[in-house]
Amino acid sequence: MLRRHLLALAVIAAPVAASAQQQEVNVYTARHYDTDAQLYEAFTRATGIRVRAIQGDADQLVARIQSEGANSPADVFITVDATRLARAEQAGILQPYALPAVDARVPAGLRDPNGQWFAITMRGRVIMYDKQAGPPPGLTRYEDLADPRFRGQICVRASNHPYNVALATSILAADGEAGTEAWARGVAANLARPPQGGDRDQFRAIPSGQCRIAISNTYYLGHVGKSDRAEDRAVFERIGVIFPNQAAGDRGTHINVSGAGLVKTAPHAEAARRFLEYLVSDEAQRIVALGNMEYPAVPGAPMDPILVAMGEFRPESIEALRDPARAAQALQIMQRAGWR
Ligand code: FE2
Repeated sequence: MLRRHLLALAVIAAPVAASAQQQEVNVYTARHYDTDAQLYEAFTRATGIRVRAIQGDADQLVARIQSEGANSPADVFITVDATRLARAEQAGILQPYALPAVDARVPAGLRDPNGQWFAITMRGRVIMYDKQAGPPPGLTRYEDLADPRFRGQICVRASNHPYNVALATSILAADGEAGTEAWARGVAANLARPPQGGDRDQFRAIPSGQCRIAISNTYYLGHVGKSDRAEDRAVFERIGVIFPNQAAGDRGTHINVSGAGLVKTAPHAEAARRFLEYLVSDEAQRIVALGNMEYPAVPGAPMDPILVAMGEFRPESIEALRDPARAAQALQIMQRAGWR
């Protein structure tokens, strides 16, 4: 009798709970850009589903989801860097998102083959130079950065930043351990100054002549080009961009992706799937790509004119970055080669 009563209650309660559950989605995100707030608001306008964003360092968010266990409020995990996405997958916090609409819009090379995460946007990690001095002769590949002809000319941030770890990881996959060590030694020997600051600080030191060559992600230069400040736009005008490794048969320009996945224990899985599907919609791609000067993951989605003017390039596959052990080895190699 009591049992039947409870069952009846459950039946009555279920639809109410289900509709309440669909009203929100909890996004654990390592992205920290103003445009993402716009993105969440646009999603809420389109669907009525509220977004609660919890920001943090990617690996800390993964640890938090693990320690929250079955009670975790996390529905969606978002971070930059394919290796961090792979680490989240290895940590067992994701489940297949199973969204044909996502797979139809995001190219296979920008998705996890196991269907646990996909890229939302990408940025190229490019070589920058002083347009006034002209393109450095013989600099068309990442490998060329180690050439002694560029002694004392290169500015790049510290080796342990994920952007540089990812670049070295792709070099490791392409050129092997000895090749990567020789490359890292060559780059370290060619530095104009000890690594300092972020990506922006590298190309900002080009107009003063402190650095002839800088390594940076494209979106940082895009932001400077779009700035309201005349000094910023003057820097932008001085900087030329080389998309490396573009020759026929070469592996393409190294990219960083931002990506998203469905958390294994998502309490609002249905709302989370709607959010994930929304991320690759025309509207979301426009907000993220135009707002943060990134390349959309969906081919044909709009790009900022500044990025269009930088030119087209063939991106490298992110396959090599899906191996956290290779990334750890790449960092070790850079550090023992003297790249601080
Ligand atoms: Fe960044």
